[in-house]
Amino acid sequence: MAEIVIVPSPAAAGVLVADEIVTLVTTRPDAVLGLATGSTPLPVYEALRPRLQGVDVSQVRGFALDEYVGIDPNHPESYRSVITKEVVEPLGLDPARIHTPNGALATISHAGEDYEREIAAAGGVDLQILGIGTSGHIGFNEPGSSFSSRTRVKTLIQQTREDNARFFDSIDDVPMHCITQGLGTILSARHLFLLAFGEGKARAVAGAVEGPVTSSLPGSAIQLHPHVTVVVDEAAASQLKNADYYRYAFANKPDWQGL
Ligand code: PGA
Repeated sequence: MAEIVIVPSPAAAGVLVADEIVTLVTTRPDAVLGLATGSTPLPVYEALRPRLQGVDVSQVRGFALDEYVGIDPNHPESYRSVITKEVVEPLGLDPARIHTPNGALATISHAGEDYEREIAAAGGVDLQILGIGTSGHIGFNEPGSSFSSRTRVKTLIQQTREDNARFFDSIDDVPMHCITQGLGTILSARHLFLLAFGEGKARAVAGAVEGPVTSSLPGSAIQLHPHVTVVVDEAAASQLKNADYYRYAFANKPDWQGL
């Protein structure tokens, strides 16, 4: 099963994941990071900034999980713009090595396959950062997504558009379609870090970690992966039945084991 780490705050989660990324990049300068957008990964990027000072990041590669379809890549809420603003620029990464799915309508019919080829050519993702939606989605794989799906176009459910409306002037401006790594793509990454904070995520986290493996809750796909670290605050952990065991296991973890 996944390792569940319950931390006191999003900032503590950020430090935990950032330390792991620094170790990875230090040992493997051209590491391939799986990048996520949304509010959840921000503490990771914030913690990375001081920790990457003095580390050579010029070779680091990255792949974002998803992008809106039909959005101008220069729109401030395109995930290309968001990744540039929140990750590439603050961390000093090489923008040419950081990829986002191409949501342009002109090439959308093969954009998913193109992205899969790019990920494969990079040798796959070493460490994937994931948030989880209130619907249980990871990436933009909404309920019903196949566990073997690869990067493709999906229709966002209304709940996700409502959740993301805060980034736009109104819900009508939130695109209806997205292009997202599939659950199969995400499961191909070598180490998954699923992060969640706040009461609003508690149900999705409990379903993903302890519920049945079902495409009705796409986050439950993590149960099929051999190396997953779930990092949650107390509120997001509040519906986990075995929370005491997770705390006990982490507190008694041998030093040599690592994450
Ligand atoms: P959030 O989104 O990090 O903004 O809560 C998570 C997600 O939708 O995957």
